[in-house]
This record gives sequence, structure tokens and C-alpha cells, in this order.
Amino acid sequence: MSYIRKEIPPELLARQREIMADIREHLSSLGRTPLAMVDTYGCQQNEADSEKLRGMLAEMGYGFTTKESEADVIVLNTCAVREHAEQRVYGNVGALTHTKKANPNQIIVLCGCMAQQESVAKRIKESYRHVDIVFGPHALWRFPEFLQKVLREGGRVFEITPSDGAIAEGLPQKRDGSVKAWLSIMYGCNNFCTYCIVPYVRGRERSRTPEDILAEAKALVAAGYKDITLLGQNVNSYGKDLNLGVDFSDILSMINQIDGDFVIRFMTSHPKDAGEKLFSTMARCDKVAKQLHLPFQSGSSRVLSAMNRRYTREEYLALIDLARSYMPDIVLTSDVIVGFPGETEEEFEETMTLVDRVKFDALFTFIYSRRPGTPAASMPDPFTREDKQKRFDRLIALQTEISEKKHASYIGKTERVLIDGTEGSTLTGRTDGGRLVRLSGDESLIGSFRNVKITGSNTWALSGELI
Ligand code: SAH
Ligand code: SF4
Ligand code: F3S
Repeated sequence: MSYIRKEIPPELLARQREIMADIREHLSSLGRTPLAMVDTYGCQQNEADSEKLRGMLAEMGYGFTTKESEADVIVLNTCAVREHAEQRVYGNVGALTHTKKANPNQIIVLCGCMAQQESVAKRIKESYRHVDIVFGPHALWRFPEFLQKVLREGGRVFEITPSDGAIAEGLPQKRDGSVKAWLSIMYGCNNFCTYCIVPYVRGRERSRTPEDILAEAKALVAAGYKDITLLGQNVNSYGKDLNLGVDFSDILSMINQIDGDFVIRFMTSHPKDAGEKLFSTMARCDKVAKQLHLPFQSGSSRVLSAMNRRYTREEYLALIDLARSYMPDIVLTSDVIVGFPGETEEEFEETMTLVDRVKFDALFTFIYSRRPGTPAASMPDPFTREDKQKRFDRLIALQTEISEKKHASYIGKTERVLIDGTEGSTLTGRTDGGRLVRLSGDESLIGSFRNVKITGSNTWALSGELI
């Protein structure tokens, strides 16, 4: 084959499978099912990784619990994207000294993006001595080996060797749901937005082969999954590393051709690589949700340039117009950062006017969080936390008004809704555009598409009645 496969060699993965069988054998002498708990922080990529961690644990013979006190193995799969996420992990890891004291054989594992940072591993090594195993995303596939070492020999394992990253195909996976599924199509990020830690902890962009993706999608459809979300930090750069002439739009078309009744969603898209081909493909493919999460981050071209986003305000707005010209009712959501170092009051106003102009269905708003090691961390940041909080509150107020109006406009309309779960005694579902709908009905409807008349709404959700 003409392209470089950045895959972990099969014989190394086979070795991990042997270790899993070994651990299973070893644990069977316990006379009870050992229990594990996996706690996930961060984004969908991490949730997908946690499904693999649970898959490996299940294969090693573990059952699952949500109680720290009864777990034999506790895994914290962490996120490093903002300081707040890290503080939560330190707080929760700290609290585990109690469960470990009550059960000294308990094994505590800290993995994920936060663990990949040297400063974090050092702090865990020195100040959180009850943590047994620490590894970053690159070493996820070696989890069985680390666990075996601690089970057999005790001691601690730290594996955070930096890497550009590789792909481990065929890891066992224990999915969280039976209706909605994550399907990772690529890993890593090459964009180095100046505020962001992700490229440092997740490595370079690497795409799974179209064959592997298609096989997984077919298996999901065959297993009855109805809502498949394709995952990547920037799905629009899919395939650039493979040189097969297959891009993200081609992947959408391929999956769209699988027989069956299901919806295809994807996230996240970077505006710099989104365009005509993507939008025309979305419009043409009946199974692809008319929904786009397209983070803009700032409405100011000066700030966008300082963020290294590689598009201007005008280019972003033109892209939105283009998307709407293909799909007039497309549901649009976005991410935005308030208070990037040096963002002035006037520049923040440009974020406000962009939000007012686009009228997103929902917005994920973040106050800038300094990430040591990123270029933005050493930029002058003269505005206070209070200044930023004020801007943030104003932005939220504006978006709340927009979301409420948008949602209210659904009232009286009929939407096709995939019923996907329950919240107490109400059913929940998603419109094709991905908006949350609450309705009453029987649990047996879970997993089916139903027409629902929308009768009520608030900022975040719709409510309706089955037709
Ligand atoms: N790859 C995705 C986003 C991943 S992180 C993309 O590029 O769209 C999710 C969101 O977290 C980002 O879109 C950004 O809005 C926010 N974010 C990332 N780093 C941040 C930081 N240092 N401070 C505040 N928000 C941040
Ligand atoms: Fe971070 Fe930018 Fe990559 Fe998204 S595209 S993960 S914001 S560096
Ligand atoms: Fe967090 Fe890592 Fe995702 S830093 S947002 S869990 S890629």
C-alpha cells in the first residue's frame, strides 16, 4: 500500500490480549466478580476512550460499579482543556485516599489528556501516592500490561512518553448505550490554536482507514444503533494523512449508503477546512443530520489571528451563509472563548455582533483558561477575571434570548424524533437537527423514530407529543 499506516503492530495488540486472558484467569480465583469503575471527564473522544477502557476491563473479567467504595479498580479518564477540569480531577483523586485506606488493594488509575502532561504526572507521583497507574492517551492500548504489573508486583506505573500518536485497531469496546454510538474516524490535531492543549496531549492528526470506518459503521447499524456520531478534533481534515483521495465528505457519502434507518452526525468541524463539498454532501445525503457544530471562538479577526485559527470573521460569516444556502433550516451550534489574552472590549463586541448575526441554536461559551506550554499562556493578559466574567454574562444573556426564540419557533411543528432514553418518567429524544425533545410515552419506543408535535420549549430543549 502506498500510504504509511500509523497503526500499532497487530502482534503487540495480540500480546495485550494474552495479558487480558491472563488477568481474567488470575481474577477467577477470587471467587467473586471483581468490580471496576471508569469516570470520564472531557469531550466525546474521551467518552469513546472510556468505552475502550471498559471493554478491556470487561474482557479481563471485571464487572462494573458506580460506587468508589466497592470498586477494585478505579479509572479516572481525564481532560486538560481548561484549568477547571483539572481542578475537579485533583479534588476527586484526593478524595480517593479514603477509599484506598478502607481497601488497600484498590488500584487507582489516572489516564487521559491531563495525565499526558509531565507536570501533572510529577505532581501525582509526588503528592498523590495512592495513585497506582498513570498513562496518557498514547498508551491506552497498553492498559492491560500496566494493570498486570501492579496486580503481580505492586508498585506504580507511569507511562507518559511523548508521541505523535498511532492507531490501535480492534480494541474491545463496551458501549454506553444501545441507540447512540460514537465512531472515531481520526485522532489528534495539527492545528495548534494558541490557547489549546489538545495537540500537545493527543498528538498529530491520524485517520483510520475508510475500510475500518465503514466496517465499524456497518456493524453498528447491524447491531441496531440509530444515531452514529463520527468523531475527530477536526473531522474536515480527515484523510489528509492517508493520501488515498478520500476526504471527510466521501466518508459521509459512504456511510450514508449503508442500508437501514439511522442518523449520521459528526463533530467537530474546523471552519478553515469546511466548504462547498461538505455542505453539498450533507444536503444530498438523507441520513446525514442537517446539523453543524462549527466553533468560531471569536468574532474579531485580530483575535482569530492571535488564536491561529486561520480564518477571518468575514470568512466565517460567508461559510455560514454558504451552509444555509444548501440547508436553509440547518441547526447551527458553536464554541466561543471570552477573554482571550488581550481581547479588548471592542473585540468582544465583535463576538456579540457575530452571535447576533448568525443566531446559533446553541452556543458553548468558555472563559479563557491559561494552559501552560501553549503560546497564549505567555501573551500579556491585562483584563481581570471580573472584566471577563461581565463579558461572559452578557454573551450568555444574548444567546439565551436567541435560543429561546429559536426553540419557540418549533412550537406547532412536527419533527421526526429519535427516542433515545428516559429522564425519570419522561422519554427523551433528538430531532434530526439534534435538539433535545422531552415527551411522554412508553419505554418500548426507545430506539425508534417517531413523529412528534412540538408543544413547548425553553432555552435548551423542546417538549412535545407523539402523533
Ligand atoms: N477541536 C475542537 C475543539 C476541542 S476543545 C475545535 O477545534 O473546534 C472544545 C472547546 O474548548 C474549544 O472549541 C474551545 O472553545 C474551548 N477551549 C479550548 N481550549 C480552551 C482554553 N484554553 N480556554 C477556554 N476554552 C478553551
Ligand atoms: Fe484545539 Fe484548535 Fe485543535 Fe480544536 S482545532 S483541538 S481548538 S488546537
Ligand atoms: Fe479534554 Fe482531551 Fe477532549 S483535553 S476536551 S478530553 S481531547
